[in-house]
Amino acid sequence: MMAAMTPGAETWSAVDRYFEELLLPSDPVLQAALDASVAAGLPEIQVQPNQGRLLELLVRIHGARRILELGTLAGYSTLWLARALPKDGHIVTLEADAGHAGVARANFARAGLESVIDLRLGAALETLPQLVNEGGPFDLIFLDADKENYPHYLPWLLKLSRRGSLIIADNVVRNGMVIDPHSADPRVQGVRSFNALLAADPRLSSTALQTVGGKGYDGFAVILVTGDL
Ligand code: SAH
Ligand code: DHB
Ligand code: MG
Repeated sequence: MMAAMTPGAETWSAVDRYFEELLLPSDPVLQAALDASVAAGLPEIQVQPNQGRLLELLVRIHGARRILELGTLAGYSTLWLARALPKDGHIVTLEADAGHAGVARANFARAGLESVIDLRLGAALETLPQLVNEGGPFDLIFLDADKENYPHYLPWLLKLSRRGSLIIADNVVRNGMVIDPHSADPRVQGVRSFNALLAADPRLSSTALQTVGGKGYDGFAVILVTGDL
């Protein structure tokens, strides 16, 4: 039976389910957030449970106390990040869509995490400069907003970082389309420009991992600020 399984979307989904059942017991808070997201008609493009757990582990490994997220959606990834914080930690999450923000705020309230999560409504290129004025730096940043703007976000993320900050960028593979220099998709071009900026910056130590699963084939970049900013 195993031999009949060819690597493909069905297998990826089955393996996701296998690890979810094994390692990720059902979680009423996260499930309620997903249910509310679906009920509100939001796109199902949040991180997978196993990726959410990875975000949680990275927060804990890094001892992050101040987190910044770009792209809240219904706050599913925000909840994973927020729940990994120590008692005195906080997370700022940026979202441009008022409808998404409303669903997320209700999810944060239901989770009892309103005091930990600071949701800023607005296009991130507008809200990031405000954050710079308020000070920083953030220990960990999860970049998951509009892919077109990834290269425009990076300088702001570095302004909001310090040596030792960890940046995770979602969706840097896009079904493999990332390797096409002639792609007409502005999201692919955005990610490609972002990756080129990572490569060119000697203050950053970066890698990228491909991921497969129930949500298809994509990947994320992991970036450590190793130089002085
Ligand atoms: N991080 C979420 C998924 C985010 S989906 C999770 O894993 O649970 C991407 C989100 O980015 C969407 O909600 C979209 O509305 C938001 N977004 C798109 N353009 C944006 C912009 N310019 N500024 C801030 N958020 C933006
Ligand atoms: C899309 C956005 C995401 O952040 C993601 O993880 C998957 C898809 C999208 O905009 O299509
Ligand atoms: Mg994403």
